[in-house]
Amino acid sequence: MKKLSLKGRHLLSISDLSIPEIELILKTARTIKKNPKKFASALKGKNLGMIFQKPSTRTRVSFEVAMYQLGGQALNLTSNELQLKRGETVADTARVLSRFLDAMTARVFSHNDVLELAKYGTIPVINALSDYEHPCQALADVLTILEHKKTVKNLKITYIGDGNNVAHSLVLAVVKLGGYIQVATPKGYEMQDSLIQTAHKICKQTGGKLVVSHDPQATADQADVIYADVWTSMGQEEEHKKRLADFQGFQINSDLLTRAKKDCIVMHCLPAHRGEEITDEVVDGPNSVVWDQAENRLHAQKALLYLVLK
Ligand code: CP
Ligand code: NVA
Repeated sequence: MKKLSLKGRHLLSISDLSIPEIELILKTARTIKKNPKKFASALKGKNLGMIFQKPSTRTRVSFEVAMYQLGGQALNLTSNELQLKRGETVADTARVLSRFLDAMTARVFSHNDVLELAKYGTIPVINALSDYEHPCQALADVLTILEHKKTVKNLKITYIGDGNNVAHSLVLAVVKLGGYIQVATPKGYEMQDSLIQTAHKICKQTGGKLVVSHDPQATADQADVIYADVWTSMGQEEEHKKRLADFQGFQINSDLLTRAKKDCIVMHCLPAHRGEEITDEVVDGPNSVVWDQAENRLHAQKALLYLVLK
């Protein structure tokens, strides 16, 4: 049988990955996390370019440190400092950067930009967040769920808030692994239909289950995992006031948490807008695993880079 390999592959969406491929990334992440020194020169001589059209703390720093800890290098390429800003096309940027680099990550407004980079470049492209998905986040998320709950199956995993990029990737990752996820959004902020359809197709193959609603209370009932993200994503700033009003009742606070199981873990991709989608007492409380989750960005991405580039 052919050995499973991710060498040379893009990661644009969680749906690009098969179940064994996700399992391989998670297993490799655990191995690297346990013994990072063993991988200290695994990517010696390799260069990762990181295009950022939007701000980032976790993704940029964790990718940069990941490359250093694997013996390679990372170049931070903010789009403002590239000729992209002056009208060079995404396709030409991809063609040129492919001649210098071994892989690229890109954080973009339009998901189409990561698709274009992958289409016209000749090196692996990793989606570091688009308006449609945040697959690297979801890999760290399932790694964190496994660490705290041992399994992704037989749990009630919930996401309460905006049906956004983070929700999309989380849903795909959970149902790929055969898990059960409930998503509650306000009316008008549902996940995109195309994503829901893809998720339901995956459920048929894996036994996973997706339930969507507009009811945060029922969603939180007996939950094993409650996941939150900001109500206003990057690029939506002018909708902030309207969103604050529309998302009333969707805050993860101590009241909502009393509905969940006692040992429920609370997750947030961060940055948190404390006092909006989540309260201080919950982020800083005993159920919160948000710092473990943030740390796991590093380990999951080291695994991904190792598998794609080694
Ligand atoms: N969760 C996440 O992607 O954080 P950054 O925006 O800081 O990268
Ligand atoms: N949904 C958020 C995630 C930030 C990591 C955004 O796109 O801004």
